[in-house]
Amino acid sequence: ANILVINGPNLNMLGKREPEHYGRQTLGDIIEELETLADDYEVRLYNFQSNAEHEIVERIQTAIEDIDFIIINPAAFTHTSVAIRDALSTVKIPFIEVHLSNIHKREAFRTHSYFSDLAEGVIAGLGPIGYQLALAAAVEKLK
Ligand code: DQA
Repeated sequence: ANILVINGPNLNMLGKREPEHYGRQTLGDIIEELETLADDYEVRLYNFQSNAEHEIVERIQTAIEDIDFIIINPAAFTHTSVAIRDALSTVKIPFIEVHLSNIHKREAFRTHSYFSDLAEGVIAGLGPIGYQLALAAAVEKLK
């Protein structure tokens, strides 16, 4: 199975960015751990990060060709992007929404997500392990 991990804006800054919210691990560290786990599960992992909304929309559109499941942290686009939501609805690829921080325990504007009602599941507040839990759940759902 092919699983695509998408990370939205500013997540390329992980490690340096507000460690009180997002921890000290870099995105590279997180992806490296996920790749090891993907090998164990015998699934193929594809990794994509972008700060640009249209690039994320375009990556989701091309995912229709070969991707079975998406793990997405839309970052700030969680709270703003009808376009990324519509892209996911268009391709109808099942997805899990991941957030490093607990978006329900922060500013009020972070409590609304344009993705949660379409997602297979939502993980928030557990840090980088959230991605690993999402991968385990994706593998289980693809069986
Ligand atoms: C985030 C939470 C969002 O509110 C924020 O804009 C991010 C990261 C998280 O992983 O906790 O960039 O998605």
